[in-house]
This record gives sequence, C-alpha cells and structure tokens, in this order.
Amino acid sequence: MNLYDDDRFFSSYIALRNEANYNDLMETPAMLSLLGAVKGKRIIDLGCGFGSTACVLADMGASYVLGIDISEKMIKKAKAEHQRGSVEYRVMDMVDVSDIEERFDIAYSSLAFHYIEDLGRLLQGIRGILAEGGMLIFSQEHPISTADYEGGFSPDGSSYTFSSYQKEGKRVSRWFVDGVTTYHRTFGTIANTLIQNGYSIDAVLEPKPSDTAMKILPRLIREYEKPSFLIIKSYKK
Ligand SMILES: C[S@@+](CC[C@H](N)C(=O)[O-])C[C@H]1O[C@@H](n2cnc3c(N)ncnc32)[C@H](O)[C@@H]1O
Repeated sequence: MNLYDDDRFFSSYIALRNEANYNDLMETPAMLSLLGAVKGKRIIDLGCGFGSTACVLADMGASYVLGIDISEKMIKKAKAEHQRGSVEYRVMDMVDVSDIEERFDIAYSSLAFHYIEDLGRLLQGIRGILAEGGMLIFSQEHPISTADYEGGFSPDGSSYTFSSYQKEGKRVSRWFVDGVTTYHRTFGTIANTLIQNGYSIDAVLEPKPSDTAMKILPRLIREYEKPSFLIIKSYKK
C-alpha cells in the first residue's frame, strides 16, 4: 500500500499540516518566490497531496491546474476541500506522466521527488508533457537530509547526524510509521540528471526561514544547521 494511504500515517501527516509547519512557513513561500507569474498558464502539480497548492496556483490566475497524486486518500481530500473551476485531480503515479494527453506550461512538484526511484525516467516523462520552453520547478528533501541511513538524528533526537552522502539509493526510515522509503541522490546527480534529460537549470534555492516564520515556529532556527529543502527551477531546452 502507498505510504500516504496508510491510516496512521495519513492522520499524523494531516495533523502536522494543520499546525504551524515547515511547508506553509518555508517551502511553499520559497517555491512561489521562484515560480513568478502564472496568469493564463497550464500547470501540472505532481504529487499534489490534498490540493492546497493547486488552489493557490488557480487563485494566482493559472488557466488550468491538474493535480495528480498516487494516494487515493489525498485526492479524495483534495476533491472535497480544494476545488476550483480550473482545477482537476487524478489518482496517478507520477512516473506514468507520459500517459497524460494534455500539455503544460509549468510542471510543479512539492516534496515528492525523493519518493521516486528512477529520477531520469520521471524527468523524461515530464519533458514529454511540457510545452516548448516549459518550466519544471520542484522541491525535495535536501540531499544533506536524505543522505543519512538513520533518519538524520542522533538516537535521542537532540542533534543532527550526517553521513553516507556519496552512497546513493534507497533509505528506509521512520516518520510516523516504520518503513518510509525515500531515495537519496547527491546534488550532483540531481543536477546532472536534469541536464542529461534536456533541461537547463535556471535557479537553485536552499530556503532559509524568515524572521516572521521563526517567530511562529522557533525550531525553524535549526534550518541554519541543516537545510531541509532543495528547490530547483529549470526549463525544457
Ligand atoms: C510530502 S507530500 C506533499 C504534498 C503536496 N505536494 C504539498 O506540498 O502539500 C508528498 C506527496 O507525494 C505523493 N507521492 C509520493 N509518491 C508519488 C508518486 N510516485 N506519484 C504521485 N504522487 C506521489 C504522496 O502521496 C504525497 O501526497
């Protein structure tokens, strides 16, 4: 079963997103700061989750937003809570994007690429559904965070650990439940996989928390020790 369809994981994740959280305070503002204007653009949101960003993009003037996610629970919640006339949702594995008939000006993805084993296949698929010169913007867990086999924390959880950076591949850790599988790739591999699959990199962001965000969630100060997110904006060549 897909991780986000596990009852225990899903309810813990939604509870986390209902509190002050890293996504709303840091990741989404950083993504939107790089994205720029979307008025009249056709956008696919890969791993759209419960659809909050799809609605933000629609409200910013996107002409059409297709949100896809592998999790039936996420898409059910998106359809129930985040509807707009220009937004559509589908349950779908993003590695199969080449099956999609529509074409898009922008492919947008927040915090989902680290769940994908074959980044090259994914990037090729996305390239096929992007218009000429189309943009791919994505965030993922930072390679400094995905590297460690033990989840990146000391056993008592009080400090960060860092190891195994050059050992790429599968990581299985605990996040609400045991057996959460992600894939570690170095920054070099991520950048080169983009280049080898026909993208030009336009900007790279390792977001830092704003003072306002740190007032709301003081533990964000730890982002100065170890960044959680990597964001890359690229274009189809
Ligand atoms: C951390 S959540 C982020 C959700 C949303 N992008 C957001 O920022 O609110 C990661 C999402 O990626 C989805 N996901 C993971 N693997 C996927 C895949 N192979 N295809 C489509 N979605 C996937 C999960 O179901 C989950 O909804």
